[in-house]
Amino acid sequence: MDLAALESQLRTLQGDAASRITACTDLTALDELGSSLLGKRGAITDVLRGIGELPPADRPKIGATANEVRAAIESLLTARRSVVAVEELALRITAETIDPTAPAPRPRSGSLHPIPETIRAIAEIMSSFGFSIVETREVEDDVVNFQLLNIPEDHPSRDLWDTLYLREPGRLLRTHTSPGQIHVMRTTPPPIRVILPGRCFRYEAVDASHGFEFHQVEGLLVDTTTTLSDLKGILSELARGLFGAATETRFRPGYYPFTEPSVAVDVRWAGSKEGWMTILGAGMVHPTVLANGGIDPETHQGFAFGLGVERIAMLRHGIPDLRAFLENDTRFLRSMR
Ligand code: DAH
Repeated sequence: MDLAALESQLRTLQGDAASRITACTDLTALDELGSSLLGKRGAITDVLRGIGELPPADRPKIGATANEVRAAIESLLTARRSVVAVEELALRITAETIDPTAPAPRPRSGSLHPIPETIRAIAEIMSSFGFSIVETREVEDDVVNFQLLNIPEDHPSRDLWDTLYLREPGRLLRTHTSPGQIHVMRTTPPPIRVILPGRCFRYEAVDASHGFEFHQVEGLLVDTTTTLSDLKGILSELARGLFGAATETRFRPGYYPFTEPSVAVDVRWAGSKEGWMTILGAGMVHPTVLANGGIDPETHQGFAFGLGVERIAMLRHGIPDLRAFLENDTRFLRSMR
């Protein structure tokens, strides 16, 4: 091994390194290539192992050449690194581009639960007759839920309402929306036209047609010339609005302590399989109830009605079991659309 041979090995190595560096297209590979050339166990170190075989006078010369080659390779690596870094960035920018003109994924639209849907349908029909919507409280006093509605304590008609009482004496969960009539009469001078939708509660054994929690819409009209035929006309229109223009209505005598006379309203329409179905109770507001609401029964009359929202929704949508309303099963809700 002589000086010329070692020098030519180093120059070959430099030439080789140059073409491999230029061919390199990513930063990791470039770093690996760098240490395989310049590292402690790299190619240059390898060549210099032969240095011991040279005459001492030649050794510094080969050392100088080796340093030149090392410096040349280092500057090639540095230059190549900045080129590759720019190329990698450009590639990432193209790969990660967002197309702002691509159509967005369609959001799944929800729909109204059949209970609020039915309340809205009722509200829409009644508002065409000038009725506005008022919501009153769910926790009531025995006095408003019963006594002011002409149902004294110990009155047998209390059996109509299985009541959930609260611990506080005299407090209960309203068993119907009728106490709202008292709140409205005491705060609104007549003429009054309101509907009162809301949740009611009863101590019931739950089955397909009874819930302990359900909804009613109360209606109240108070004016100076109100008669039973106003009640008939408006409730017939309500039935037609809910079940179709061909719906027939039937008014039967009924009994409620807060109305006199009282009626039960049945409907029948082309699609009804079971014939007549009762949808609501109604009547002319009892004079005592008007007086309890602060309205003079000598100058004013009124009619009132109360309907069960679950029952109407079941009839309108053919739902056989009212427990479905509270189960929160989205398949049920989707089938209602
Ligand atoms: N509050 C009655 C009930 O829950 C329904 C009702 C009947 C309301 C006749 C009325 C009415 O306003 O006039 O069973």
